[in-house]
Amino acid sequence: MAHSKIYILGIESSCDDTSAAVSCNTQILSNVISTQKIHELYGGVVPELASRAHMQNIIPVVQEALNKAGIPLAKIDAIAFTRGPGLLGSLLVGTSFAKALSLALEKPLIDVNHMKAHILAHFIDNEHAKKPDFPFLCLTVSGGHTQIVKVSSHFNFEILGSTIDDAAGEAFDKCAKIMGLPYPGGPLIDKFAQLGDENRFQFSKPNVGELDYSFSGLKTSFLYFLEKEKKKNLTFVNDNMNDLCASLQKTILDILFHKLELASKKTGINTIAIAGGVSANSGIRNRLRSNEKIKDWKVFIPEFQFCTDNAGMISVSGYFSYLEGKFVDQTIQASAKIIEH
Ligand code: KG4
Ligand code: ZN
Repeated sequence: MAHSKIYILGIESSCDDTSAAVSCNTQILSNVISTQKIHELYGGVVPELASRAHMQNIIPVVQEALNKAGIPLAKIDAIAFTRGPGLLGSLLVGTSFAKALSLALEKPLIDVNHMKAHILAHFIDNEHAKKPDFPFLCLTVSGGHTQIVKVSSHFNFEILGSTIDDAAGEAFDKCAKIMGLPYPGGPLIDKFAQLGDENRFQFSKPNVGELDYSFSGLKTSFLYFLEKEKKKNLTFVNDNMNDLCASLQKTILDILFHKLELASKKTGINTIAIAGGVSANSGIRNRLRSNEKIKDWKVFIPEFQFCTDNAGMISVSGYFSYLEGKFVDQTIQASAKIIEH
């Protein structure tokens, strides 16, 4: 290889976070994330507003990432960007920006799949943690996806199961909205759950095929339960917020872990990783840690800043593609749906 140090500028704009990062091989030199606050007012991400905010944020965010890393644009070896999946209008901003920059600087362009990047975040250097050995299973849980993925190399991903309706993050966010909590509700449910009794209420669990998930029934049963209780006591939700959050979180975790444990048993793989925004959840982290002892799992949890959407994971994914010479040209288009690479 010509260089021993490869600098990649990563750009992420798939949803409501505008992010840019600079990596040197698998080390992150800067990871700037600008979270759009405007969506809180609407109880969910408004695609048009997200796209507009990305346009406002992208140049300052990229500039800040370069400044923090202390790397001038001229030193960047390639530009990596999230091509999809995500919101098309949001993806278009990062994709167009990356294409234009690549053209202007005459630097190679690398497209990155957002979901694979969440998994490859495990290969970001971390002085406190080792990197997983292949093959491993990764539970990828975000606002848009819930999947169990068998990862056999940096480029070999096999989806063993996925949600047939809502994602786990959506279950957190939609139930939070039903309780009147602001968007995104996942972190708030996590916070209140730590103060509550997780066995106080029982909610329905799905019955779907092998390693697949379903969360829409839980949301509906949660809604009906609260409506029934509010008829008896108007302030039921506020009176029981902590217990409701704890019981709801336990149900979501039971659903997630039931299939994850089944996947581990079926494949004989006990190296287990977690990725995506919901992996920031403290309950999930605790339960994974306890499975290290109970089930002899080897557990891998990314650093907090690389769990939710971030460009650090895009830079490092781009680095692996760079090593293989996997570049794209100016005909590349953003893609809202799952893409091949
Ligand atoms: O990966 P991510 O940042 O964006 C997507 O690609 O979707 O994930 C965002 C999701 C949201 O649904 C948010 O509520 C959830 O991750 N989330 C959490 C926590 N932190 C973020 N859910 C539960 N507990 C948390 N601590
Ligand atoms: Zn994500």
